[in-house]
Amino acid sequence: MPLTLPGGGLLTSGLTTGQAPFIEEARSRGELYIEQPWELYSDDNHESWKRLYGRIRPRWERYANEHFLRGLDALELPRDRVPRLAEVNRTLRPLTGFEARAVSGYVPAFLFFDCLRRREFPTTITIRPHDKLDYLPEPDIFHDIAGHVPMHTDRAFAEALVRFGDCAHTAVDMTAAVKDEAEQCRRLTSIIKALSRFFWFAVEFGLMRGRNGVCAYGSGLLSSYGELEHAVASDRPQRYPMQIEWAINQAFEIDRYQPLLFIVDSFDHLFDLVDRLEKWMRAGKLNDVAPGEPGVSETDLRSFLRADPSS
Ligand SMILES: [Fe+2]
Repeated sequence: MPLTLPGGGLLTSGLTTGQAPFIEEARSRGELYIEQPWELYSDDNHESWKRLYGRIRPRWERYANEHFLRGLDALELPRDRVPRLAEVNRTLRPLTGFEARAVSGYVPAFLFFDCLRRREFPTTITIRPHDKLDYLPEPDIFHDIAGHVPMHTDRAFAEALVRFGDCAHTAVDMTAAVKDEAEQCRRLTSIIKALSRFFWFAVEFGLMRGRNGVCAYGSGLLSSYGELEHAVASDRPQRYPMQIEWAINQAFEIDRYQPLLFIVDSFDHLFDLVDRLEKWMRAGKLNDVAPGEPGVSETDLRSFLRADPSS
């Protein structure tokens, strides 16, 4: 029997990426922060989680960094069904103060970083179809909960994420007084590009020195069965010690295995790098980074222009 949704619509499918009426209705009402209606997940949705988890688990044990594996143990994510965010948060909150917060879709850049500053992680609740397990351009709950959230159990990593949030506030502080509107937008666009690039290389696709040379802590790697092994074990990717000046000027493409990866020594090292990034921003070093991907959307730019720096 179909369920009636809060907005009055009928449930015809579960919470599959791109096919979820619940999400469409939330977006049409302008609701970014939502609840996770766990009862709406279909059997196919749970099957997707089970297959994704089951096939990548042995690769985590070989290629993931030890902090991730400890986080995985602490969270006790279910193997055979989509997790409930409330259960995840019950374990996560006492460890680092972080929590996963359900969202209906893309979170504009300033809001995303500001959430990190408040120790909230915007979390997608839909899941990829079980016939498309290998690649999806947008995040899903497997990427967000299995790829990101185990890292949030680690104190040093959590502090680095909060420092990313500070960077977004510094960006607003540093550009709010620029009188010329075109110049203000130009500088902000450059800073958002630099932050996005650094986040990409340091959080989504980061490698760390560790067991057998290097291991993965980046969430884009830890949620990808194919790319995790490619990033750590293949001789194809170029791997270099993280350098801020390189990362912030380096374009990337999202729809291919990454040809270039950066390595950090530890999460204290990662924190120091983000801290230095914030100081570089204050010194104006992010005001004119190299052009190229990623593009900065009107929505992302506006999120910074309208931000309340005192929040
Ligand atoms: Fe991600």
